[in-house]
Amino acid sequence: MGYQTLLTSLENNIYTITINRPEKLNALNKTVIEELSSAIDEVYNNDSIKSAIITGAGEKAFVAGADISEFLQLNAQAGETLARKGQHVFDKIENSPKPVVAAVNGFALGGGCELALACHFIIAGDNAKFGQPEVNLGLIPGYGGTQRLAQLVGKNRAMQLIMTGEMISANCACQFGIVNKVVPLNELLNEVKKILFVIHTKAPLAITKVIECINNFDHTQQGYDFEIKKFGECFATEDAKEGAAAFLEKRKPDFKGK
Ligand code: COA
Repeated sequence: MGYQTLLTSLENNIYTITINRPEKLNALNKTVIEELSSAIDEVYNNDSIKSAIITGAGEKAFVAGADISEFLQLNAQAGETLARKGQHVFDKIENSPKPVVAAVNGFALGGGCELALACHFIIAGDNAKFGQPEVNLGLIPGYGGTQRLAQLVGKNRAMQLIMTGEMISANCACQFGIVNKVVPLNELLNEVKKILFVIHTKAPLAITKVIECINNFDHTQQGYDFEIKKFGECFATEDAKEGAAAFLEKRKPDFKGK
């Protein structure tokens, strides 16, 4: 599928989605959000895709935020509509049945930071910078940032980051638990692919259930009950039988995604 603002490629079952507006630091305008939504539908629906990477074009930015040039004419209602649309796409990323990893190759600010947070996990280049600078514009994060950041780094750190609008380095983001690993920029995509190749050797339906359970995390019994249900469902799959049989027969499992 041809896109105006995205580059996509499918190689070794990994679908790489590159946001491609480097001259505007890959800012998320209306078209990017719409096209990202379609690209994520592709991840859900194309059986050749086992996992996806989201990254930015160029060496400077992952995504430097929502496109500020679209903000001037917005009123309260249009602002709400914008946030609702963005959140819908980012929720689709978070709930993708296949792993979606953010390869953060530079600035991940505002909506860019929120986009990375919506992915299942984040690997960053050593040049990456994270921040929620919306308060500088008289705004707040609207694509899920107040919720996902607070869940990930805790209330106090989220309060400080969002209230100051400060940018933090990749290493600091790693210390905060935002980023899983920091690697030299020129190794970023290969590092993410290496991790995805490991995941590709596992039972796909089990991976989907892992995503569902972890996304359903809550402190009440409800999260544990959901895990019980999903654990039970695994035993209805052929892959679970194959996994146990392969272990007992001392061979590698041959998972079919069934
Ligand atoms: N929306 C629209 N355009 C953006 C943008 C955004 N979020 N971020 C960067 N750009 C554009 C700049 O306007 C500039 O365009 P121009 O060359 O036509 O003037 C181009 O991208 C390059 O950015 P520039 O600011 O010149 O780069 P820099 O290296 O001096 O600064 C940043 C980099 C990221 C610090 C700076 O661009 C910035 O603060 N961006 C906004 C971040 C933000 O507030 N995001 C949250 C939005 S809610």
